[in-house]
Amino acid sequence: MAKFQCVNELVKALQPIDPVYCFRKQSLKLASNWFNHNFPGDVLYAVKCNPTETVVKTLIKNGINSFDTASIDEIKLIKKISPSSKIYFMHTIKKEKSIYEAYFLYNVKAYAFDSKEELEKILKITKNAKDLELFLRVQTSNEHAEIDLSKKFGASINEAVSLSKIAKSKSKKFGLSFHVGSQCMHPIAYSKAIKDLGNIIKKSNIIPDIINVGGGFPTTYPDLYPQPIKNYFLEISRAIKKLNLSKQPKLICEPGRALVAESGSTIVRVELKKKQNLYINDGTYGSLFDAGTPKFIFPTKAIQINVASSKRLIPYSFYGPTCDGLDYMKGPFMLPSNIKTGDYIEIGQLGAYGMSFRTNFNGFYSNQIHEVQDKPLMSIYEADENYNVKTLYA
Ligand SMILES: Cc1ncc(COP(=O)(O)O)c(C=O)c1O
Repeated sequence: MAKFQCVNELVKALQPIDPVYCFRKQSLKLASNWFNHNFPGDVLYAVKCNPTETVVKTLIKNGINSFDTASIDEIKLIKKISPSSKIYFMHTIKKEKSIYEAYFLYNVKAYAFDSKEELEKILKITKNAKDLELFLRVQTSNEHAEIDLSKKFGASINEAVSLSKIAKSKSKKFGLSFHVGSQCMHPIAYSKAIKDLGNIIKKSNIIPDIINVGGGFPTTYPDLYPQPIKNYFLEISRAIKKLNLSKQPKLICEPGRALVAESGSTIVRVELKKKQNLYINDGTYGSLFDAGTPKFIFPTKAIQINVASSKRLIPYSFYGPTCDGLDYMKGPFMLPSNIKTGDYIEIGQLGAYGMSFRTNFNGFYSNQIHEVQDKPLMSIYEADENYNVKTLYA
């Protein structure tokens, strides 16, 4: 991994044939500091979002010491990098072998579940361990999210009442959790979910030791301008207060996207231009899945080495390098009217769910990662020149 002042310098120096993934340490520092300063509880990083070692190491260096993992490989990764970090195994459907290894080889105590079958599996495999932290994931509305997780995961309120009773009696610590869906565009989603937890608490008469408000905190894209995340935290704090519990549960959250999106860009090369379609060397089977199926619009910047970029920006769509017609990204991606074959494009906000989605379908795969020090194309965080948290929508 080499280090460059900025993306332009990188492109001029390398003129890369394959996609290059850029990484901005300062953005991670800023986002981790911001979350740690402002969230009223512990911040866990959702490893799935970007498991690159440099990303994880930078987060740890900047005060993120707990991790939401979904597989045994993610657990191994964190243990290798930081044996003392706290690991939560938060996938609600786990292989027996993974639970066994997590508990007996990697000392993981915290597990999520959303069904009786999974709860019994955890208890059986850990031989009814007495030091478990059990998190019951509750189904909540994902109506404000760009990516819906609510159909796949979560116990209904009625199921949750009876599962709370079993889990409470079998655990050292009992937690309730939810996920409002990824890129959640309105803070009210969190207060509605917390109100649902309130119903469960009332009906079961069990106050959880921990409330996990999940991920879902938004970043910004050219067509998605969420409210400041501080509003989300205020909404959470107010909703918890409203529950009027006799004992205050500890709060935790599991952000992915909002912590790491800004830190990563993909640099692609234009291989061919057909009208307003650009055929580029990365696509939906690479780091651009979210530009395909969920049709995210990412910020773009042209890097044209030998000509000045036209100031007239026009909308383009992208085709990726594979033979599949689904390898299509509608956009619109706004780029200069004179962009042509051989030019480069920086595509921003891909520190989240970019590199982690790459496949080698059709023989197209790149693992070139470099560090750059310029500012990201879009940011929700405001920093001074040393990248310390300044005001951020204060
Ligand atoms: C259990 C869990 N926690 C946290 C996250 C991270 O979500 P986000 O990237 O929206 O913050 C996810 C994403 O799918 C998840 O499944």
